[in-house]
Amino acid sequence: MLILGIESSCDETAAAVVRDGREILSNVVVSQIDIFAEYGGVIPEVAARSHLEAVLPVIDKALTDARCTWDDIDAIAVTHAPGLLGSLLIGTLTARTLAILHDKPLYAVHHLKSHVYANWLSSKDVQDETYPCFPILALVVSGGHTQILYMKAHNQFEIIGTTHDDAVGECFDKVAKILGLPYPGGPAIAKAGKDGDANKYKLPHPKMEGLDFSFSGLKTAVLRAVQKEVGVSISYPSHKLKELLKPQQIADFAASFQKTAVDILVEKMRSALIQYPDAKSVVIAGGVSANQELRNAFPDAFFPEPKYSGDNGAMVAAACYYEVQSGVKPTDPYKLNIYPRISIEN
Ligand code: KG4
Ligand code: ZN
Repeated sequence: MLILGIESSCDETAAAVVRDGREILSNVVVSQIDIFAEYGGVIPEVAARSHLEAVLPVIDKALTDARCTWDDIDAIAVTHAPGLLGSLLIGTLTARTLAILHDKPLYAVHHLKSHVYANWLSSKDVQDETYPCFPILALVVSGGHTQILYMKAHNQFEIIGTTHDDAVGECFDKVAKILGLPYPGGPAIAKAGKDGDANKYKLPHPKMEGLDFSFSGLKTAVLRAVQKEVGVSISYPSHKLKELLKPQQIADFAASFQKTAVDILVEKMRSALIQYPDAKSVVIAGGVSANQELRNAFPDAFFPEPKYSGDNGAMVAAACYYEVQSGVKPTDPYKLNIYPRISIEN
């Protein structure tokens, strides 16, 4: 089954053609990072306009790269939730129109499901049959979400842990801003931290019940530690701190923060494995899963290839394939709705 996957929930316009949820025939991602690096974050209206410009050329390229015509495509899958309203609208309206025009079944996919299913993709050896085994504990770490999911079988997701405030990716982005590092903060912190001492600054772990997370306190703890280090009061404007920080201090803060964030994720997954001893595989997904320290901390877990950790169309096609296998029916292209905030359990 050849599925065209379309993704536009945040600041990447992406499309891909995937065979049977596994074999990537093409994967085209146009990122708006260059636009938003200047502003230090995503501006939703600007993101929507950029999607509008990019979406049709990106889909065309995905078909061309895969050496496909519309006749070869069996279904269209598109992200309809959660994400930025304007961004989701562009992707879904495009997918709906193309489904009607080319008379293809249309499937609406939840963004976090797609991230998880990036672990079933392979751009290398499609004969390599190492798949995660059920039951699965999935840790989804992105810019908008931090959740632990229990998967009994394909397309069955139970949220067993979630963040009460910021997502871990969001925390990387905010800490990067404090340190004067560019957006997106995750890769910038990883790079800056390479020359840093991860044990230089002791940062607190939040005291959260059960398998839940909180990351806003960690961001504030970094802010206070930086203020203390450079000798200013807590009312000192945070956007000016970067002018007072020396390169070595930035490296040490980046490394110490990254270590703390990874340690928190490790601790919670350890508790999750104790609570769910039947789990056979651990799967990590979402933009933050590109992080090398996180990868080192989970040597036995499944990770997507780093280029499929962030937003892409291939993972949407993979998730769709397993929805179809689980008996999910196509959606009416005239009626498909978007849901900027809906949970994966719905
Ligand atoms: O999944 P994603 O591409 O978009 C959302 O669904 O949110 O995740 C983006 C997040 C950003 O917060 C970004 O800073 C973070 O993933 N990220 C990383 C790394 N690469 C991207 N965080 C830590 N280390 C990385 N190497
Ligand atoms: Zn994402």
